[in-house]
Amino acid sequence: MYGGGYLPDDQKRHLPIAEDPDKLAAFETRIDRGDKVEPQDWMPTEYRKQLIRMIEQHAHSEIIGALPEGTWITRAPGFKRKMAIMAKVQDEIGHAQLLYAAAETLGKTREAMINDLINGKSKYSNVFNYPAETWSDIAVIGFLIDAAAIVNQTLNAKGSYGPYCRALERICYEEAFHLKQGHDAFVALATGTERSRSELQAALNRWWKPIMHFFGPSDKASVHSEKLMRWKVKMASNDDMRNQFLDMYVPRIWELDLTLPDPELRKDSDTGVWLFGDPDWNEFFEVIKGNGPCNAERLAVRRWAEEKGEWVKRALRPRNEIYVTPLA
Ligand code: COA
Repeated sequence: MYGGGYLPDDQKRHLPIAEDPDKLAAFETRIDRGDKVEPQDWMPTEYRKQLIRMIEQHAHSEIIGALPEGTWITRAPGFKRKMAIMAKVQDEIGHAQLLYAAAETLGKTREAMINDLINGKSKYSNVFNYPAETWSDIAVIGFLIDAAAIVNQTLNAKGSYGPYCRALERICYEEAFHLKQGHDAFVALATGTERSRSELQAALNRWWKPIMHFFGPSDKASVHSEKLMRWKVKMASNDDMRNQFLDMYVPRIWELDLTLPDPELRKDSDTGVWLFGDPDWNEFFEVIKGNGPCNAERLAVRRWAEEKGEWVKRALRPRNEIYVTPLA
């Protein structure tokens, strides 16, 4: 449920969303000027709702995203890679903390967000609903999914909502290290043995569709983009972000003599736009509805963690009673 505990009266959810036109105009002028919006500032109810939705989904993606990589900590090839993947998983959980804190500034409690995640009400990134079957999957995630996240997050870090932008700035520094470790693992496999190359190629083939889905549906099918871009929450459209990613990373994959499983993928030299075949949007919509290969497993693990970790939360909760030295 939407918390909204400390929202100003005119912004409580049960009231109709008819904004004061003068306040709305002043707000949009500030956005156009490039001002940052802070939690105590007036904001349209829809802006608040959209930010909560997006930041919350992002936070969930970080904790769920730690699960496939977490299962490889004990199986990473060698001490150096084990240390790196362990640090990365820890960072992802830290990112979730930063993002939940940013979403809380908008009035939804962390408990409400976690409940919505484990009850399947909130979405999280499609890509974390696929299995990481081999170490090559981890290399593909570390290189390409972190690269995709950086494209999205460096753009949105220049957006309008102060707490989200500041969280994204910090996250991007750490993501840059993640990308380096992912690229290093990816290149090691690509330039290793025949077997490591073919395992990497198979992982790349498996992950290409989910990676193409990562930036969301095409601009025509996107529901929220227009509003979010007007209010500078999203700083580029889904197709523009996808194009930026393809432009930066497809050449880096091809230079390693690896292939991508889309015969139509090419850059139009006149427009600079990447063309590609249908990445199977039906599959995307099924996955985000909860019907992907690992959705049930991911949520089951989170539910288990909530249940088993409840005593830790209870122990950390501040107590009200006053401590007095017991009488001898
Ligand atoms: N995974 C899961 N759901 C996705 C998705 C993805 N990769 N891309 C889009 N969707 C969902 C949206 O959440 C929305 O569903 P909802 O209305 O039930 O919330 C629906 O598909 C329509 O998409 P769209 O209107 O384009 O959503 P959007 O404008 O919010 O754009 C993102 C989607 C992912 C680009 C945007 O939310 C974003 O930049 N999020 C922050 C970054 C993030 O969460 N990264 C994930 C992991 S690092």
